[in-house]
Amino acid sequence: MGCPAPLPAAAVIPLLFLCCAVAAAAASLCSVRGLPFVRNLSNEPQDNYGRSGLSHITVAGAVSHGMKEIELWLQTFAPGTRTPIHRHSCEEVFIVLKGSGTLLLASSSHKYPGEPEKYQISVNSTFSIPVNDPHQIWNTNENEDLQVLVTISRPPVKIFIYDDWFMPHTAAKLKFPYYWDEECFHTPKDEL
Ligand SMILES: *[C@@H]1O[C@H](CO)[C@@H](O)[C@H](O)[C@H]1NC(C)=O
Ligand SMILES: *[C@@H]1O[C@H](CO)[C@@H](O)[C@H](O)[C@H]1NC(C)=O
Repeated sequence: MGCPAPLPAAAVIPLLFLCCAVAAAAASLCSVRGLPFVRNLSNEPQDNYGRSGLSHITVAGAVSHGMKEIELWLQTFAPGTRTPIHRHSCEEVFIVLKGSGTLLLASSSHKYPGEPEKYQISVNSTFSIPVNDPHQIWNTNENEDLQVLVTISRPPVKIFIYDDWFMPHTAAKLKFPYYWDEECFHTPKDEL
């Protein structure tokens, strides 16, 4: 992202200032430096990362906050919205904070996920997704948002996405890093 083309000196100075202020704001999203030690969740940046009906906050992330062992996310799904069917080679723990919905979970032990188990989830439901098991969180409640707190291990997370439950595990598409920290991600990290 460059600064605007040359302009008369009187106009350049305020524009330069604006440009630097914007750059500084972007940098602070991607670095723990300059962030207060205790932060207010209400002020944390949130985005839908191109998925309508999703609000995602990286409370603590590998790239933006320098996390080495875990990441913590707060995600809110509007009625009817869901995650892709996906798997990852790390541990993941959920706590449902608001609303209700369905967890769909399949196994990694066959060639493809197959028909998933369905679990109803609601406030205070908590569950851990087994490593590499394909799963999907779906807000099946038409009237309320579903909000979950998610802890995930081994950041930055590699996610494999399935088109459906019958796609072979080997055909699932790798996304790395996943959307959340992408804008802050510059150099490849070590292989997991
Ligand atoms: C966090 O921000 C919200 C909204 O501005 C405010 O209502 C709340 O009091 C703040 N909480 C803390 C702990 O600062
Ligand atoms: C969830 O569980 C915690 C721990 O037992 C409890 O304090 C809280 O009231 C529960 N919330 C709801 C909505 O059941």
